[in-house]
Amino acid sequence: MRISGDLTFPGDKSISHRALMLAALTNGECIIDNLSTGVDVESTRQCLMTCGVQSEKNGKQVVITGNTLKNPASDLDCGNSGTTARLLTGLLAGQGITTTLTGDKSLSQRPMERIIQPLGLMGASFENENGYLPLRLNSAPLTGIEYSPPVASAQVKSAILFAGLGAEGETTVIEKTKTRDHTERMLHVLGADIRLDGNRSTIKKLENPLKPFAMKVPSDPSTAAFFAAAAALVPGSNLILKGILSNPTRTGFFSALEKMGAGMECLNQWKENGEDVGDLRIFHQSLKGINISGNQIPVVIDELPILAILATQAEGVTMVQDARELRVKESDRISAICVNLRRMGANVEELEDGFVITGPTPLHSAQITTHNDHRIAMAFTIAGLISDEPITLDNSDCIAISCPEFDYLLKQVVR
Ligand code: S3P
Repeated sequence: MRISGDLTFPGDKSISHRALMLAALTNGECIIDNLSTGVDVESTRQCLMTCGVQSEKNGKQVVITGNTLKNPASDLDCGNSGTTARLLTGLLAGQGITTTLTGDKSLSQRPMERIIQPLGLMGASFENENGYLPLRLNSAPLTGIEYSPPVASAQVKSAILFAGLGAEGETTVIEKTKTRDHTERMLHVLGADIRLDGNRSTIKKLENPLKPFAMKVPSDPSTAAFFAAAAALVPGSNLILKGILSNPTRTGFFSALEKMGAGMECLNQWKENGEDVGDLRIFHQSLKGINISGNQIPVVIDELPILAILATQAEGVTMVQDARELRVKESDRISAICVNLRRMGANVEELEDGFVITGPTPLHSAQITTHNDHRIAMAFTIAGLISDEPITLDNSDCIAISCPEFDYLLKQVVR
C-alpha cells in the first residue's frame, strides 16, 4: 500500500465560520464557494438562520443575504462547535441581540468564561452561573476595550473583534502569542476600519453594513494534515495537496513535518481574498523526532493529534510542551492521544501540558476511544493504515464534524 495522487479539500473550517458570520453583517447577497462541508460550519449557518439571516445552500456554494439579524425565537444550538459558540456570542453581543446559546455534551463542558469576561467588560450582559453553556445573552450597548487574552485563542480574539464591530469607540486585542488571523484579514479585505500592528489589532464600530462579497474558501490545511501525514508515513508515497490555505498562522504542522524529515515541495503559491494559498507535494522519507513548544503551539494546535501519530514512527524523541489548551478541546486530547497510542504499543509519556513520544515503535491493532472527537478519530484512522492489524474506532461518525468526505478522500489516494 502507498498514498499517491492529488487531492483538493472542502473549505477551511475557520474561514468558513467567519465568512458566514461576516456575510450576515453585509447589506446584500454574498456568495461563498467551497464552504466547509463539516457539521460545525452547518451549526453556524443554522444559528444565523435562526436569527433571521437568509441562506441557500447548493452543494459547497452558499448564498447569504445579510442585514437581517433579529432576536431569535428559539435557542441557538451550536452543536459541537466552539468556534460557533464563541464567535457568534461576540458577533451577536455587538448587534444587540438577546438569545441563549446551547451546545452538545462536549461543548457544554468547554470554558466560556474566556469570552464572558472580556465581552462583559465591553458591557455585554450575560446570565450564566458557571462559565459553561447554556449562555444567556441580553441586549446591551457595548463600548470598546483594550484587552490582552490570558490564553492564546483565536476564538477569544475573534469574539472580541466581532463585538467591537458594534461597540462605541475602538476595540483593541493584544495577543501575547499570535494565533490564526483570518478574522483580521477578512475584516481588512471587506473594508472594515481595522488597524493591524504585530500582535495588536484595533477595530472601530461599523458605521454602515459591510459590502456584499463573493469568495472561495481555500482547502482546509487541518484536514489536509491527516493525508499529508499518511503520505509521510507510508513508504513509496507521493501526494499532491491542491489549493491548501497556507496562511503562516496555520502552517505549523507542515513546518513540523518538514523538520521531522518528510519530503515536501511547494509547487505553487498565490493569494486569494487576502489569504495565502498553495499546492504542496508530500512524499515519504524517514522521520526524526522534534521539540515543539511556546509560540509554535497555537499554529499547530489542531494538528497535534496527527503529529503524535507521526512521532511514533520518528527516530528519537518528540516532545510537545505548552499545549495545555489541548485539554479543553472537543475532548481532553492529551489524554486521548496518550491512552490510545499506548493501547497501540507506542512509547508515550503524558505531560500536564503535552506529551513525549519515543520512536520508532511498531503500532498494533487496538480499540480506539475517540470521545466523539473528530480529530482523534481521523488521527487514529491514519494510525490504522500503518498498524499490523486493523484498528477499531468506537465512533467514526464524529469525523463529519469537520470532514464528512474523509473516508471517500482516503479511498482516492490509498493504492
Ligand atoms: C479556531 C481556533 C482554535 C482552534 C479551533 C478553531 C478558530 O481554537 O483550535 O479549531 O477558528 O478560531 P482556540 O481559539 O480555542 O485556540
